[in-house]
Amino acid sequence: MKFTLGILTLILSFLYSCDARNENKSKQITQEKTPTRNHSYANIEAAHTTHLHLDLAVDFEQKKLSGVARHQIENNKSSEIIFDINGLKINKVTTSIESEELNTSHEIKGAIHPILGQALHIKIEPNTKYVNIYYETTEKSEALDWLDSTLTSSKTKPFLYTQGQAILTRTWIPIQDVPSNRITYSADLAVPKDLMAVMSASNPQSKNDEGLYHFEMHQPIPCYLIALAVGDLVYGKLGENTGVYCEPELLEASLMEFIDLPKMMIAAEKLYGAYSWEQYDLLILPYSFPFGGMENPRLTFANPTLLAGDKSLVSVIAHELAHSWSGNLVTNETWNDFWLNEGFTVYFENRIMEEIIGKEGADNLALVEFFELEEEMERIAGSPHPEDGHLFLDLKKRNPDDGMTDVAYVKGAFFLKTIEAKVGRQKMDVFLESYFDHFKFTSVSTKDFIDYLNQELLEKYNIDFDYKEWIFNGGIPDNCLEIESKSFQQMEDFAKSFASGKDIFSTAKGTSAHSKSILNRSDYSVQEWLTFIRNLPENLTITQMEDLDDKLSFTSWTNAEIQFEWFLKAISTNYQAAYPNLKAFLKKVGRRKFILPLYSKMYEFEHSKEQAVSWFKDFKQNYHAVSSNSIKEALAL
Ligand code: BES
Ligand code: ZN
Repeated sequence: MKFTLGILTLILSFLYSCDARNENKSKQITQEKTPTRNHSYANIEAAHTTHLHLDLAVDFEQKKLSGVARHQIENNKSSEIIFDINGLKINKVTTSIESEELNTSHEIKGAIHPILGQALHIKIEPNTKYVNIYYETTEKSEALDWLDSTLTSSKTKPFLYTQGQAILTRTWIPIQDVPSNRITYSADLAVPKDLMAVMSASNPQSKNDEGLYHFEMHQPIPCYLIALAVGDLVYGKLGENTGVYCEPELLEASLMEFIDLPKMMIAAEKLYGAYSWEQYDLLILPYSFPFGGMENPRLTFANPTLLAGDKSLVSVIAHELAHSWSGNLVTNETWNDFWLNEGFTVYFENRIMEEIIGKEGADNLALVEFFELEEEMERIAGSPHPEDGHLFLDLKKRNPDDGMTDVAYVKGAFFLKTIEAKVGRQKMDVFLESYFDHFKFTSVSTKDFIDYLNQELLEKYNIDFDYKEWIFNGGIPDNCLEIESKSFQQMEDFAKSFASGKDIFSTAKGTSAHSKSILNRSDYSVQEWLTFIRNLPENLTITQMEDLDDKLSFTSWTNAEIQFEWFLKAISTNYQAAYPNLKAFLKKVGRRKFILPLYSKMYEFEHSKEQAVSWFKDFKQNYHAVSSNSIKEALAL
């Protein structure tokens, strides 16, 4: 109810737009207009954490973290403070004013909500300064992925990593799990002596003999960005303040693949101002990591499928780096405002890539995304939630992960691209740089953005732009910027010709511009090949699939994006020759963006339905809960 009212207030106050501009400082704790209770039980208006210190032991045998979370709090005269927990065992709670700890009463209220978990109520006094929660994680702590050594690259040491976004931090730390409260944090961790711990904080660059590591994050962050990984790690430097952590045997490949990271940093800073987090490193995780990348501050978590060997997938790194501004510095206030994180980041990512590979390549990257958006929009329009086509979402009573669609990402980015085309790049750049500066270290709602857009861009230059249509309606507005790509058009033509039975391989190359034919895989970029495969119909014949494999060896190409698109066609055509590689891919890779659609596609066809269920049963222990939960749902398990 409160939430409904909050949304109403938000929309009304926007419609009858008042001029009230929010001051940065007060923003962090004034939450009247958008309820922070959104996806959380925390009472942050009454009492909230300002600093967290974690003191934890990492036990690989029992697959358990245990210790204490010490919350330094600000109490607005409340008699209790409420934290979110999900899958945690709370052993004891104390409070303190200085160093002496006194036991205090706590109560876990309500049944376990399947999405939100439970509320941990703790009694406090007006002058309580610290709340110390002694706890341990359980097998229900879904943020944690405990990997046996067999699932790592070296196959000799186990691995642990966390994934906090959107609301999984509460499954490994008792915390006020809202993106609108910013905290600093520190941590002391005890890990097995042969392993190294790293966090989204100041990090060691080598192992120590005690297995004890200390971490500091001095800049205030939303708690979904608290992250930890423990494994057999080494560090390699890429630039002045950039480098990569990975298992030893991946170091050489990682240093090659991400060699342009320092250039990306220069491009990013040139666009939107100085990097705020001092150090920027990558951590290459095991294959089970459910995302391509996760923007944990100072330490982006990355999927090893990015190691394509030819730098063709590094835009994911540009994306995570961009989050150092959009998302980490300026954070979505609620998960309904998720597009402010991701749409800005995809826009920014593309600007960085333009510096790295040039305008044509960057346009092609954006176009691949745009095609995905068109498909997604169609799916959403026919789904039980057609309103998911809006940038500003209403995720009440839903999992915030439901907002993770191409709408937030690509519609968001094209919204900004369209504004840019209208106002000109120079004004857009000034606007965005000032946006990041104005809102730095705060959380921003869609309304805040709209007010700022009006004030600093549209009204300022008297520009007529229908942003409401973009933000509060579904679909892709008519004024959306169009990107043209000659090479993509050609790939599309090739695909259509091939599908209609034409021979696209034998025409001599280069005889005339129009009779150009596909000869070598290396003549075209990965993005061009993706466009080619995507434009093939679902019902090619086995002979046609064999012909493509014969000429282009798609089945054995180890680029994960290509494998993904190709396997989708292999499933729909029941092309058995690709199944062993498909099976190996599903056994190894846990990245949800790939495996969820692959399992879903298998499930769609009678010829592969049972296979999907049986493979999933065999491989699910290789996946993080984020992926396996989604697939379970798709396979109706
Ligand atoms: N922050 C996201 C990942 C995320 C979003 C995790 C919501 C949990 C909830 C990350 O920055 C991301 O967008 N990753 C993409 C990268 C891509 C869009 C370039 C991915 O993993 O595919
Ligand atoms: Zn992102």
